[in-house]
Amino acid sequence: MQTIYLKVDSNRPSPRIIEIAASLIRNGEVVAFPTETVYGLGANALDENAVHKIFAAKGRRMDNPLIVHVCSWEQASQLVIDIPPEVDTLVKRFWPGPLTIVARSQGNVPESVRAGQPTVAVRMPDHPAALELIRAAGVPIAAPSANISGRPSPTSAEHVKHDLNGKIAAILDGGNTGFGIESTIIDVTQKPFKILRPGAISNEQLAESIAAELISVEKKGTLSGSAAAPHYQPMVKVKAVPYGTSITNELECHELKGLKVGAVVISDQHMARVPAMLVTITEGPEEYGRKLYEIFRLADEKQLDVIVMETPPEEGFGRAIADRIKQAARGRGIGRDDNE
Ligand code: TXA
Ligand code: MG
Repeated sequence: MQTIYLKVDSNRPSPRIIEIAASLIRNGEVVAFPTETVYGLGANALDENAVHKIFAAKGRRMDNPLIVHVCSWEQASQLVIDIPPEVDTLVKRFWPGPLTIVARSQGNVPESVRAGQPTVAVRMPDHPAALELIRAAGVPIAAPSANISGRPSPTSAEHVKHDLNGKIAAILDGGNTGFGIESTIIDVTQKPFKILRPGAISNEQLAESIAAELISVEKKGTLSGSAAAPHYQPMVKVKAVPYGTSITNELECHELKGLKVGAVVISDQHMARVPAMLVTITEGPEEYGRKLYEIFRLADEKQLDVIVMETPPEEGFGRAIADRIKQAARGRGIGRDDNE
């Protein structure tokens, strides 16, 4: 399959370009599009056949459900039922934005979108191209991150092309994504509400907006509770070290073994030797978020054996970054024994 490449201005997407992508969606094809978090791999959420194409292109397990992207709460409310009143506050405050809400599904959402669960995940992305695409398509768009399963989520159209060229109908290129980390997921089907995945909307922001109690559940494997499927898994071994820890010994130890080593540091670090790849994060978790998945991809391209990554303090947006680094560390086993 020839993948069409469509460039759009992310702030003022051309209606003509959006319509090309929207008509592909209406015709049951799969189109990658930018959001404020990472690129999504979209298809008509109400068309079971179209949704199957997403799983096929990504090589994704059918037991891992998809997020349905909408352009308004009104559109979402046609997919979900039994919405507790607190959700109104969340939607008013955080939509459009990186907050995905898991609620009880209405009967119209195909089984494959939900992976057979009675619930469905909905989110309204804060990105003009994504919103215009959903509006023009006239249907909600089911979309996981637009990477091959097990690879880091894409934060640029080049990443999508690298993973999926020839496997999907089109890529809508809106440049680099804003946050670089996937949305926060909150399950509102039972009280207390559960944060299934930390993201750009922090636990603190959620807690302060709703009076209800919130719990954070760190699940391994898929968030829907099905068998373990690897996420965020670069090929390089990732070693996570807590904020402020000196990484000198760690680096030396790997280098002595003749390994090709990379490092990502936040705090002032004294390094006897500069590693094969060194990234210094100076502007806080926002900068780390924008660069994280690009760093994983670069480390793989440079064929590093191991990358030592300082995790940010686990508060606010930093919690989501630390979560993704630790997941990557678990993916290859390294760090499992010493980090947890
Ligand atoms: O920022 C994002 O959320 C991006 C952009 C494209 O919107 N999407 C994304 O999708 O990260 P994906 O498929 O890579 O991750 C979605 C996660 C999966 O871990 C899945 O298990 C979980 O959401 N999920 C989807 N539906 C669910 C449901 N009904 N119940 C529990 N978890 C669900
Ligand atoms: Mg994903």
